[in-house]
Amino acid sequence: MERFMIASSRRLSTLRTVSIRPNGWVCQSCRARGAARLRFSTSASISSSNSGNLSHQQNDKPYYVTTPIFYVNASPHVGHLYSMLIADVFKRWEVLKGRTAYLSTGTDEHGMKVQRAAELQDLHPKALCDANAETFKDLAKKANIANDYFIRTTDPEHRDAVEFFWARLREKGYIYENKHEGWYCVSDETFYPENMVEKRVSPITGKSFIASIETGNAVEWTEERNYHFHLTAFREKLLQFYKENPEWVVPAGRFTEVINWVENNLEDLSVSRPANRLDWGIPVPGDPSQTIYVWLDALVNYITTAGYPHWQPGSEHTGGWPADVHVVGKDIVRFHCIYWPAFLMALDLPLPKQVLSHGHWLMSKQKMSKSVGNVVNPFFALDRWGVDTMRYFLIYSGHISGDADYNNAFIVEKYKKGLQGGLGNLLNRVTRPKNWSVRQAVENMARTQGSTLSPEIVYHRKILGRVVEKADDHMKALNPSWALQDIMDVVFDTNKFFTEQAPWERSKEGDMVAVERTVFFTAESLRIVGILLQPFIPEKASELLDRLGVDPTRRRLEDAVLNSDDSYGTPMVPLGTGAQGSLFPTLPVED
Ligand code: MSP
Repeated sequence: MERFMIASSRRLSTLRTVSIRPNGWVCQSCRARGAARLRFSTSASISSSNSGNLSHQQNDKPYYVTTPIFYVNASPHVGHLYSMLIADVFKRWEVLKGRTAYLSTGTDEHGMKVQRAAELQDLHPKALCDANAETFKDLAKKANIANDYFIRTTDPEHRDAVEFFWARLREKGYIYENKHEGWYCVSDETFYPENMVEKRVSPITGKSFIASIETGNAVEWTEERNYHFHLTAFREKLLQFYKENPEWVVPAGRFTEVINWVENNLEDLSVSRPANRLDWGIPVPGDPSQTIYVWLDALVNYITTAGYPHWQPGSEHTGGWPADVHVVGKDIVRFHCIYWPAFLMALDLPLPKQVLSHGHWLMSKQKMSKSVGNVVNPFFALDRWGVDTMRYFLIYSGHISGDADYNNAFIVEKYKKGLQGGLGNLLNRVTRPKNWSVRQAVENMARTQGSTLSPEIVYHRKILGRVVEKADDHMKALNPSWALQDIMDVVFDTNKFFTEQAPWERSKEGDMVAVERTVFFTAESLRIVGILLQPFIPEKASELLDRLGVDPTRRRLEDAVLNSDDSYGTPMVPLGTGAQGSLFPTLPVED
């Protein structure tokens, strides 16, 4: 490393055309406040090779989860909503466990893609950004995403953080100026090496063009002088870090791709573009003839939100950094799992603890994407099917490893089977009949602890005893879909149990002890499942618990234990009548 830094500074001194003084650099807001010079790295910074274990981690570090920040060249689609939703479920799960948790989302507003979209619409880029950032904010609100931050890369605090970050990289000798030629893809905002592009023919125009093999998007030949980041200097360090943190990228298959890339394809990274080609971005500090590469700019958002660079020694973690999970789609793994850790390593900053890369939503077997023109407008879908139905469907049916097909018929199917026929039906079956009272059953069962139970009840208790741990294990393994499926299996099992026990028959026979046992264990299922479902379908889960009469202060994960609450059973809201009065009424239109 030492050798590289010397070589690199030599290179800098011969190539540099504009001199900058990173040591003297102070961010604009600090300059304005006349604050003392900022610290450059965390006092608790950890060696990149052990950041997976975070030996320094203070107990009061809040949980911190992020979504990718979304390009504002176009309106959001269901794929974007999916990234947001997964992160939201992670945050809400931690809150359920009693931890302070932060969720950050936002918009990625600089770069060629946005610049060109604005040109096409004859708009100033900032006007386009302002309008579309609002749409993404609206989406987060409409989908009930509990984000604590909505960062925009045009925010002044973010610009300060990026300038500071750049100056530190430069000062440490990792940035040098050089000639760059290669295939640039505006759509993916990245250069591709020669072996990753190929000639293709457009099915629409019949014309041939050069495209990225990975994404199919058109690339253009570019020759320019720009700044480079010495990424190859981090090859060994990255590989060592991956080896020591085998669960850093989920799923494992994608981690293997990352490792292969670092082993075989690593090149230094172009991290600026000439301003005469790209001026919609943050100018390179001290050299306004260059604009900072949009991905470097964008990745820094994760630490801007966590308070960088205004970190006080010893308290850097209070803003949440290092992130517990970056949620990203499978198309942007390389940026998060190679470039980002290398940038952080360069500045001795802690690395995020994990990166979850999810699969894509497809329409007719093709990735849903604006450029293909097969996108589903999430606002329409949320209006049509309801917020929690969409949350349920996307999490239940979305995949981490593979891709998933989006289809209205699948939404209807999941609604009917899981929500209406499963959860809503079970709730009605136990709370609506007049021949027993849930409250009475809860009171009486609390009094009859320890009595001999039938094998069916023993089995049912076992399921209830295990579900919290099983769901939590899936959440720890970053698989919210499996967590939700396990929770819903309890609903399906309980419906069967209720049918088999037939309490309406026992009531005719006058066996109220049997009736109340069944009612009690069914109500316990609903109470536990209702608590666990809060991160997934927050509105409906809370209504379920209201109908069941569960005190709002007793809805934490630690309350999701059999026999742990004898205070519920009196509905806090009307139970409704008929199908339309159910928690999940009949869908109006189903095709
Ligand atoms: N701006 C970058 C991210 C920068 S993060 C520092 C970007 N933006 S994006 O708007 O193109 O994509 C944002 C997220 O949406 C990514 O996680 C991407 O994988 C996800 N999706 C875009 N299309 C998708 C599907 N069809 N299905 C699922 N998710 C998809 O990349």
